[in-house]
Amino acid sequence: MQELLNNIVAELAEETERGKVADYIPQLAHVDPSQFAISLATVEGERFSAGCATTPFSIQSISKVFTLTIALGKLGDALWSKVGREPSGDPFNSIVQLEHEGGKPRNPFINAGAIAVVDAIMMGHEPKETLGEILSFVRYIADDNSICFDHQVAASEMQHKDRNASLAHFMKAFGHLRHDVDKVIGTYFHQCAIAMSCEQLAHAGLFLASDGVNRPSNLRVVSPQRARRINSLMMMCGHYDASGEFAFRVGLPGKSGVGGGILAIAPGRGSLAVWSPGLDKYGNSLLGTRALEMFAQRTGWSVFGH
Ligand code: DON
Repeated sequence: MQELLNNIVAELAEETERGKVADYIPQLAHVDPSQFAISLATVEGERFSAGCATTPFSIQSISKVFTLTIALGKLGDALWSKVGREPSGDPFNSIVQLEHEGGKPRNPFINAGAIAVVDAIMMGHEPKETLGEILSFVRYIADDNSICFDHQVAASEMQHKDRNASLAHFMKAFGHLRHDVDKVIGTYFHQCAIAMSCEQLAHAGLFLASDGVNRPSNLRVVSPQRARRINSLMMMCGHYDASGEFAFRVGLPGKSGVGGGILAIAPGRGSLAVWSPGLDKYGNSLLGTRALEMFAQRTGWSVFGH
């Protein structure tokens, strides 16, 4: 396995077409696009990494997997009255569907859906408490208390909030958001600004690969049914309007972020994190997707086999 990861890193190091680093969040535009990392945490407790796997990066939309898990823990199936669970076929920041569908976002991974999810988590709490809750949960599943928010990234996103603020106002107009728009999107920007390395992220995703149980602690995070459902959503919606393409090429539940990270789950086997900051036109990591495709092909770990 270690040799396989080393080979992927070596092969992709030669690649000159590395995609485009996100610049609509100015703080992300400073990231060096030549960086690359891959980590695997297996359900048996093994850890393999190659590249700069201890370098923290902005997890961005990957955080939506963790806030979905928290919201399901709080609301259970009642969450589905606030957000749907169908692929959108639209870009991550699209507003069009909201008007057609009465302000209810299609799924928890598009921006509108993630904003509705964090609004649900905030119920009965001050924004600061919600942020503490999200960070504690991520630290718990990664078993690492050093994980933090990158406040500069959060501030940078707040300065360029117009698009997400529009989504939030639109949902609020339909009665789908309870809290003050700036408080909700401020919380959302912070969750996206959590900084993690591939090693930390692979560990954090492990409960989804092992029927809801964290490893090596063996502590249950969610039920097996909930782990299966979150994985299904990642497979169908985790890459927005490129989710079909990701399933076709990789065949694993996956969630991308505009920081260039992807978390992919091989159920029963392990959790994979990749990071390459350059994105494709859909906002998903160009070489990160390629690396996962190489991994799936060489291991046969796709949920659909070889
Ligand atoms: O709201 C945004 O636009 C970002 N904080 C997150 C978007 C994102 O990561 C989309 N993923 N590929």
